[in-house]
Amino acid sequence: MIHRLNVTGSVAAVVVAAALTVSLGAAAGNSFLRAVIQTPAFAMHTAPQSALDLEVGGDLIGLPAGSIRYITRKELLALPQHGYTVSDDPSFTEPTKVSGVLLAEIVVRVAAHPDSDMAVAICSDKYRANYPRDYLAAQQPLLVLEIEGQPPAAWPKDAETHTMGLGPYLISHPKFSPGPGAAGAGEDESQIPWGVVRIDLRDERQVFASIEPRGPRAGDAVAQTGYKIARQNCFRCHNSGKEGGEKSGVGWMALATLASAAPDHFAAYVRNPRAQDSQAQMPGNPGLGDETLRDLTAYFQNFAPAAKP
Ligand code: HEC
Repeated sequence: MIHRLNVTGSVAAVVVAAALTVSLGAAAGNSFLRAVIQTPAFAMHTAPQSALDLEVGGDLIGLPAGSIRYITRKELLALPQHGYTVSDDPSFTEPTKVSGVLLAEIVVRVAAHPDSDMAVAICSDKYRANYPRDYLAAQQPLLVLEIEGQPPAAWPKDAETHTMGLGPYLISHPKFSPGPGAAGAGEDESQIPWGVVRIDLRDERQVFASIEPRGPRAGDAVAQTGYKIARQNCFRCHNSGKEGGEKSGVGWMALATLASAAPDHFAAYVRNPRAQDSQAQMPGNPGLGDETLRDLTAYFQNFAPAAKP
């Protein structure tokens, strides 16, 4: 499944979102203002009203951790809407207009700790995309509610299997630009999933804690490069315990064991899975260079049960 859309479009959403970030920043020191901004403009329903509702979970404002609530499409459509035209998008055959709510807006309204919580988008196929706060600020991801003014029932099917709907929600960007820390190809991935059914608000450090680099050289550039790719790419489909996506059904420890036992096969699989297994579903990473693949393999080796601490 291809979870990437290349988009270009107007910067209107960026400008408005920047204003939102600025007002948030100013409000952080003002508890009254912050309470006003954070008051959800919708009911947090305890039961779904429709299959098209957005499920929200994790750390929700005013609720015990792990609570689940539902927001209806109608309620989301009543929030400020942003739109732009997507082009060069493998899901669509021509430039397509999308519109919806900024993900940052949802974080601000429903997160218990908007200063430290990030958004985790969970898809019906157990793929997960993570939106740390710096990513939300830099990329302005949009929770898409309408494509060409139409609701999900009228949306195209996915570009790969042509059988799965892109709804109930997909996430898009006006334009993805790799962050300043991205040294090479594949180190900064756009997070543009479709088939999104749920958004969790989670403490950023807690989610990533189990995949932080291990071993005596955890702070080295090698481990940090590997971690960066693993966190943005692999973690979407490969889980570590309860964190990360479960789409692949292959956990972090299994990857670590393979990286240790058969490093060449591991690296070859990451670059081109179908060359190793004609039935492979995993998308390839042809842009990753030999050195980057070595760093990634070394990063995973440190998680293997036999790895010396
Ligand atoms: C879009 C989902 C997706 C992403 C992202 C992804 N994988 Fe996978 N991966 C899979 C699936 C599904 C499988 C199961 C076998 C298959 O169908 O390819 C798999 C299998 C593998 C295997 C083979 C395991 C075995 O037991 O033979 C390796 C190695 C692997 N992935 C490594 C990685 C690494 C490293 C990354 C990050 C650079 C990554 N994967 C990113 C979906 C993904």
